[in-house]
Amino acid sequence: MHSLRGLAALAAILAAACTLQEAPGRTDTTATAAGGRTGNRWNPDLWKPATVDSSVDDPYEASVYRGLALITQTRDSLPKYVGGNLNCTSCHLDEGRRGNAAPLSGVFARYPQYMSRSGAVVPIEDRINYCFTRSLAGSKLPPDSREMQDIVAYLAFISKGVPNGEHVRDEGMPKMLSLLGDSARGKELFVENCARCHGPNGAGMGPIPALWGPQSFSIGASMARQERAASFIRHNMPLDRPGTLSDRQAYDIAAYITSMPRPDSPGKESDWPNGGAPADVPYDTKGHKAFRPPKVLPRTTNPAAAIVAVPASVLTRK
Ligand code: HEC
Ligand code: HEC
Repeated sequence: MHSLRGLAALAAILAAACTLQEAPGRTDTTATAAGGRTGNRWNPDLWKPATVDSSVDDPYEASVYRGLALITQTRDSLPKYVGGNLNCTSCHLDEGRRGNAAPLSGVFARYPQYMSRSGAVVPIEDRINYCFTRSLAGSKLPPDSREMQDIVAYLAFISKGVPNGEHVRDEGMPKMLSLLGDSARGKELFVENCARCHGPNGAGMGPIPALWGPQSFSIGASMARQERAASFIRHNMPLDRPGTLSDRQAYDIAAYITSMPRPDSPGKESDWPNGGAPADVPYDTKGHKAFRPPKVLPRTTNPAAAIVAVPASVLTRK
């Protein structure tokens, strides 16, 4: 079942002619929306994200649909804002709806949110821009732009029915037991399990995204942390056979991938301004020594546009 879905997804990706309209399994928006209640109580087991209707009837649906197009074709749609060869859905799989792959469904109900990495309460636009600047190694999108608001409209749409502040099933990526990966073993496992799609030197092939090198996510991305990468890999890769690697193997491969060179992330030393960085963060922050830091490469995009400042007070603004 899983492997069929993976193969179908890959076939869809590899068929360059595939358009959003032709994507399989998309039904009417109203048909699958919401659920999620037992009496008056929120019940995440009964909730399903609404699916986007490809026949657009009004300006709101048009915005949601553009948002979907932007997160699946980010690099082609917004080349000035994307540094590498990834799209949002390279990691947020299945149009941001796959559990345990940092799903975007439900996310709108949990922002604004305090993030210890920023040391501030941030709106969803800033959270999206962290992924533009770090995960796509690109530039921040103006929060008041049409494109940012289309992405937010899509996230709100696939979060419909989730009460403010509530959580959905399989949110984020499962926390892994802490192990220490062996990158030499990881290299062998990479060749056996990953290179056929991501390329022998991890640079990606055609529409398949890079895992390291100048086209990959930056050192400031969550995916550049060994435990986060291990969880993503353990639960989602190989794309056509997810769940077939052991925790140990996922850690070994993660150790190998995160040891390889990748774009720098300007301003990263200011992360976790109050201390408390997780043990596997690969760069120095307050009170934290870099864990197995990889070599960093220069950014292909303007470094100043890679820094998302925390919301500043108008009273103290100069
Ligand atoms: C390299 C992989 C990668 C790419 C590409 C990526 N993200 Fe993310 N994103 C993550 C990870 C990992 C997290 C954090 C998940 C965790 O640790 O629970 C995250 C978190 C998020 C969150 C917050 C989720 C939550 O549960 O609070 C949002 C919103 C988000 N990303 C949006 C985007 C958008 C929009 C794009 C494209 C502009 C994008 N991401 C591209 C990996 C990626
Ligand atoms: C059958 C082809 C295939 C195989 C095999 C495969 N991947 Fe992927 N991988 C993909 C595709 C395609 C994506 C992007 C998903 C999308 O666009 O829907 C991806 C995304 C990723 C991502 C997030 C995006 C990025 O490039 O950083 C990581 C990390 C990843 N794969 C790691 C691995 C690892 C590690 C292995 C081996 C255990 C592996 N993959 C095996 C096809 C594959």
